[in-house]
Amino acid sequence: MLHLNPSQRTLITLLSDGLCHSGNELGLALGVSRSAIWKYMNQLIELGLPVFRIPHQGYILKRPCILLNEESISHQLKLKQFEKDYKIHLLTTIDSTNSYLSNLPFNSSLDICCAELQTQGRGRFGRLWHSPFGENIYCSARWTLNCDISKLSGLSLVTSLAVAATLKEYLPSESIQIKWPNDILWHAKKLCGILIEIHAESHANAQVIIGIGLNINTDTFNQPLSEKPWCSLYEITGQFYDRNLVLASLLYHLERYLSQFLVYDLAAFIEEWKPYDYLYGQNIQVTQALKTISGTALGIDTAGHLILRDEQGIKHVLSSGDTSLNNRFAGN
Ligand code: BTN
Repeated sequence: MLHLNPSQRTLITLLSDGLCHSGNELGLALGVSRSAIWKYMNQLIELGLPVFRIPHQGYILKRPCILLNEESISHQLKLKQFEKDYKIHLLTTIDSTNSYLSNLPFNSSLDICCAELQTQGRGRFGRLWHSPFGENIYCSARWTLNCDISKLSGLSLVTSLAVAATLKEYLPSESIQIKWPNDILWHAKKLCGILIEIHAESHANAQVIIGIGLNINTDTFNQPLSEKPWCSLYEITGQFYDRNLVLASLLYHLERYLSQFLVYDLAAFIEEWKPYDYLYGQNIQVTQALKTISGTALGIDTAGHLILRDEQGIKHVLSSGDTSLNNRFAGN
């Protein structure tokens, strides 16, 4: 695990004004030599920070970068009257924030892990989650839910609704959609992915790790991924965001939605789900471990399962699977 030292954090802050700074000037500001600045810069470039060296002039950052900051996140949570007892584990690089939490000894407070970069960010179905340095949110939280494990089928959907509520703050007039169970889309491009892992369970108690990858400042339009279309808040609005503020808002909404879910069940969220339902009425394909089913998506039931009617008119109720629009009928 690698940490940024205080000098490197200061360097990033100084460069965030978008101007060119000479090695001399940066060395004076930090009280270190020009060659120390050179060394720090090399390490930052290696992490993926887009620093350019302009010969005979100095260093310039291609786009703003506000680092994750524990005080800033805590301050925002306090303003939102976030009531849960929590501990933030803020890392520079880690393989995966979900894996980090699953290896952490039990803690009665809410453990939250965020990183600037993930080297092995994990997605659903064994996919990799692209996690470049300092650009997006890679956050996992380990929640203890006082409920029977049978209730957890709705958790993915409730988490998606919490993410959608967060995004509505930043994109009030954009159409955000959810592809069952928990892909958050904008114009059919993936803005956020959620990976939920059950960590421990007993008859009336479940510990779950909810990992969220939310694309914030990556220039996704000019950096397409080979596998699937993705997008970011930056692509949608042309603005750069302070991830600390978005992260605090995300945690706030997540806590609110999970509390409601525990009291009222998924049934209380069915109406809210409907306008977000990307698959509803579409001809879709659901890939499961042993089979693939095609048919028309008819929404969800009160447990959060997907309802599908196949070409023979038979209804299927599916608890898991990888969903996509059917190519024979649709554009993706
Ligand atoms: C998916 O859509 O396939 C789920 C992607 C989940 C990515 C997040 S990033 C933070 C957390 N840590 C991980 O390794 N994965 C999740």
